[in-house]
Amino acid sequence: MEPALAWRDGHIVAIDQTLLPHEFRLLDIATTVELIAAIKRLAIRGAPVLGAAGALGVALAHRQAAREGWSAGRLRAELDQIASARPTAVNLSREVAATAAARDPEAAALAHLEKGTALSIAMSQLGADFLLRRCPGRPLRVLTHCNTGGLACLGWGSALGVIRALHERRALQHVLVDETRPLLQGARLTCWELGQLGIEHRLICDSAAPFLIARGEADAVVTGADRIAANGDVANKIGTFSVALAARHAGIPFVVAAPESTMDPDTPSGEHIPIELRAAAEVTGTAAPEGTSALNYAFDITPADLVTAVVTERQVIEVTTVRSG
Ligand code: MRU
Repeated sequence: MEPALAWRDGHIVAIDQTLLPHEFRLLDIATTVELIAAIKRLAIRGAPVLGAAGALGVALAHRQAAREGWSAGRLRAELDQIASARPTAVNLSREVAATAAARDPEAAALAHLEKGTALSIAMSQLGADFLLRRCPGRPLRVLTHCNTGGLACLGWGSALGVIRALHERRALQHVLVDETRPLLQGARLTCWELGQLGIEHRLICDSAAPFLIARGEADAVVTGADRIAANGDVANKIGTFSVALAARHAGIPFVVAAPESTMDPDTPSGEHIPIELRAAAEVTGTAAPEGTSALNYAFDITPADLVTAVVTERQVIEVTTVRSG
């Protein structure tokens, strides 16, 4: 399958994730304006892919600057706009800054892209090892929220990568997929990716997740993250917190899989993480009376003490370690 994001002839080529699963269309992005628009409307999304898009965005901006004779100030302003296109996932602003500081930004961006696949496979295997230690004895029923597969992450994904590793070890019974309102990344993207991989899954309403967990229908919850604060608080797609509370209530593991680049030691705790507020229309749709106002926070914060473990490409950090360090 096409990667979520690639660099071809000085352009960014990306799967338009707003059209899946009904249409598979590639975007050919040649300018920073096009890139910023694609990020804002979630054609390109998911924290690690946003990081890669930020890195490639710097390469793209440098090419455009040379073509159009931009001043250094104009280039800086364009990079700032890319970095702030979505505020919650730390990967985006971090990779823009890191790539902009590199001697050869294009080479640095391509190296970043290259690393993605191996990194996600390592994280997936560590996560599967951890879950099999915590929940031994039978194929697992795993609940997940949002979309954390190759579309969001490059390679296998984060939480969905862990699920794929369990599947490949014949240790997975099925996946419960939260639909993930309001933009349905679970229903549209996760179900599509699981279908492509031949992994058995059931789609559930977000509001059904706590009830199903309480009834014993899931052995573990695995999600991704957009930013992990220094104290271990986790920002992820809105709805994650209620799933974590339900997991704690039921006494099942709540595991977060995310690359080290999603950890943000400069943000002390969840309350300092900027939470993206998106357009009301995404929530009201055609159902609510015209003019209804909405509070459309795209992410929530799960406090560190609800997190059983954070799995990265290098380590499994159990919550006691996260909290003390
Ligand atoms: O708004 P989105 O679709 O970019 O939100 C994505 C998520 O919340 C993911 O869980 C997170 O970025 C981790 S992706 C591996």
